[in-house]
Amino acid sequence: MRAVDVIMKKRDGGELSREEIAFMISGYVDGGIPEYQVSAWLMSVFFQGMTSRETADLTELMLRSGDVMDLSGVPGPFVDKHSTGGVGDKVSLILAPIAAACGVKVPMMSGRALGHTGGTLDKLESIPGYRTNLSPAEFRDFLRADGFAMTGQTARVVPADKKLYALRDVTATVESVPLITASILSKKVAEGAESLVFDIKCGSGAFMKSFPDARRLAESLVNTGKAMGKRIVGVISDMSEPLGRKVGNFFEVEESIDCLSGKGPQDLMEITYRLAAWLLVAAGKARDPDEARRLCEAAVTDGRAMDLFRRNVRTQGGDLARMDRLYGHHRSSHSFELRAPASGFITGLDAYGIGLAGVYLGVGRNTTADPVYPDVGFVFERKTGDAVASGDLVARVYGKDEASLAAARPLIEGALKVGPSAPPPRKLILEELTAL
Ligand code: URA
Repeated sequence: MRAVDVIMKKRDGGELSREEIAFMISGYVDGGIPEYQVSAWLMSVFFQGMTSRETADLTELMLRSGDVMDLSGVPGPFVDKHSTGGVGDKVSLILAPIAAACGVKVPMMSGRALGHTGGTLDKLESIPGYRTNLSPAEFRDFLRADGFAMTGQTARVVPADKKLYALRDVTATVESVPLITASILSKKVAEGAESLVFDIKCGSGAFMKSFPDARRLAESLVNTGKAMGKRIVGVISDMSEPLGRKVGNFFEVEESIDCLSGKGPQDLMEITYRLAAWLLVAAGKARDPDEARRLCEAAVTDGRAMDLFRRNVRTQGGDLARMDRLYGHHRSSHSFELRAPASGFITGLDAYGIGLAGVYLGVGRNTTADPVYPDVGFVFERKTGDAVASGDLVARVYGKDEASLAAARPLIEGALKVGPSAPPPRKLILEELTAL
């Protein structure tokens, strides 16, 4: 087999056999096929797409390029949730202990902030002492002990994705539905989950800006996951404004604590309960999402979810006493107040602008090597739909230094829209696709 023939076949719109896809993947991982040919192949996939069969083969072959988590000895069922990424999206921190309190195991492998979107690992690491570089044995033991465990991706899990994703990043081939599907799904299957709920974000702060694009990704994830024998739900949700009232690494830990104390903001609780409910349904713990939601609410109300959250912080090395002391006080001394420029209603709080401003402030990063800071970000006092008088406080903004605030300020002011009339109510959950 020759790489050039596989590239040509895809370039001309052909359907690749499993053997041809395997040839490209293994050739790239072991160095036999040079990057210029893999780049050309990725670009041909970008333009020609892949059939469901090709996407499922690609996913499975990528999965087989590395290790699969060994969860033997831990009683299941194993479930996980994956978000395609957004701004203020701290759902994983809240959902994992809620789901675990309802009797499922959540082996969660998460990522870091990149560009305007936040990362679960950075949020967790803002808790003093919290470790996310767990060994496979720790991951299994912690999962058994607390019902959930939170780790980063090790070098041995789906190595094909590490190489391919880096190449896609520099060859403008990231935004391809089959390539995204295989990248996300191979990693989720590798962590051992039997049921998966995907939160496919849609809107300015999301990877997929338009609903049709988000829907195509949702369909692809659900269909490919089903073809791989998983129980899958895809929830398409709005990411046109940040989720919740706090954006920033430790700020989002604080808001997760609020949610687990039963004091979370409405939008964040709605999406968290819905996703957690689908996990319980997929795992056979409830008949339908309404029954499942009641179980989730009870786990928050009676404190079981909070207990598990705190246990996990301790288990993964976090300093609970310091976390408690820092709550509400972990704020950079460099800050400004964002105030309403006119009277009326907030008609928009653009998630992309806020996320991008967050990169300047030190919440997120432009490259994987950039540092992030725990004590910077946004605390919103008002959000879209709220009435404001000119000069009212909308948000407190914290940056790593004065220069970061100066750079972020125009983006933040540009993200806030105030108009004379109230906008239509925001619809948070746009569509759900199930393959159970
Ligand atoms: N996240 C991933 O893990 N992979 C992609 O291809 C896109 C987003």
